[in-house]
Amino acid sequence: MTSSNGVPRRPTAAPGGLEDVVVADTEICFIDGIKGRLVVRGHDVAELATTQTFERMCGLLWDGDLVAGEDEEALRCALGEAREEAFARVADMRTALQGPNGMDALRAALAQLEPCSDETQTRYLLTAATAVFAAAWLRYRDGADPIPPDKELLHAADYLRMTGRPCHDVEKVAALDAYLVTMAEHDLMPSTFAVRVIVSTGSDPVSAVVAGVGALKGPAHGGAPAPVLDMIEEIGSLGRVGPWVHARISAGRRIMGMGHRVYRTRDPRAAILEAVIRSGVASERSDRLVAIARAIECVAEDELKKRQSSKVIRANVELYAAVLLDVVGLPREAFTPTYAVACVAGWLAHAKEQAASGRLLRPLSRYVGPLEVP
Ligand code: COA
Repeated sequence: MTSSNGVPRRPTAAPGGLEDVVVADTEICFIDGIKGRLVVRGHDVAELATTQTFERMCGLLWDGDLVAGEDEEALRCALGEAREEAFARVADMRTALQGPNGMDALRAALAQLEPCSDETQTRYLLTAATAVFAAAWLRYRDGADPIPPDKELLHAADYLRMTGRPCHDVEKVAALDAYLVTMAEHDLMPSTFAVRVIVSTGSDPVSAVVAGVGALKGPAHGGAPAPVLDMIEEIGSLGRVGPWVHARISAGRRIMGMGHRVYRTRDPRAAILEAVIRSGVASERSDRLVAIARAIECVAEDELKKRQSSKVIRANVELYAAVLLDVVGLPREAFTPTYAVACVAGWLAHAKEQAASGRLLRPLSRYVGPLEVP
């Protein structure tokens, strides 16, 4: 192995979890893990979440601009038409979409798509299909038929409609839209890294998105919100938070919705979603769930501070994502598929950027086995 000036280069060992290792230059997303700031193409996500639709977020992620006027309308129409195109495939994918796990169903259904001849159309199709297939899976799980899309609606409203949940409550639709915008992009989270690795080999975006879905499923990544809701419901009341959290940490178990690889502060997305819940869709139930989530944060933070010398463990986005998705009417089994509905947009932005870089991602491992078998 040699450097550009021909001098032999010794491989350096990266930490096992690749923390603090930079593997790409990007113009898409910046995270300041110390100050707790998340920026997408120069825009603070806290602002995007309350001012932009998912469609405009897609435009920003894929093409670098917050589209307006005719361009915005064209993007909305293109996504609507792509939802119709995806829905036309649902009957063929019935077996895949009737599986018990939403992420497995999504992976199996998306894998049956073909990339379009045009890159932009492929992005529309994959983004639309993720929502259409996630909703169709939920309908089958509910024992009902899939609901065809309404291409005139915004993506968030149509997704909620296709799941069979009431979509006339503008506040709930706005809260879901804010969720989709907030969750669409988060730099090299494991699923996005997986997407970039696949694209770096020259493979296609369908394969990359399928890999993203596989990575997102894990409880250390996108699989956390359902267990978060289980935890909040199991605790049940503010008075039980302290003993529950104490017992859990004493048993050496993790508190879901706490901790993050990058943030040393509270995850800024937790604050965004908490504010959306409090201001947009507050109800007796959401007030109770948010109050318990807040108390879990405080107690867990204190307990973990006492035990951890090296790492600050604070709330991550999933603590409030779980509450928001519950409040808009989605069942916990649909939480991670709904996360995929959001982050497919970011994956495809990274796929485009990685393809343009033309660089194969290929690290080394350090061999620790024998060189000869005795
Ligand atoms: N509850 C209790 N302890 C936690 C914790 C949590 N949620 N998250 C991390 N820790 C502890 C670990 O036990 C470890 O302690 P140790 O050094 O004594 O073994 C230490 O903090 C460092 O943890 P580590 O696993 O190295 O951190 P990471 O950066 O690899 O993990 C997560 C990040 C998100 C995977 C981790 O915080 C976690 O599992 N959180 C719960 C799941 C979750 O909410 N996932 C959604 C992420 S957005």
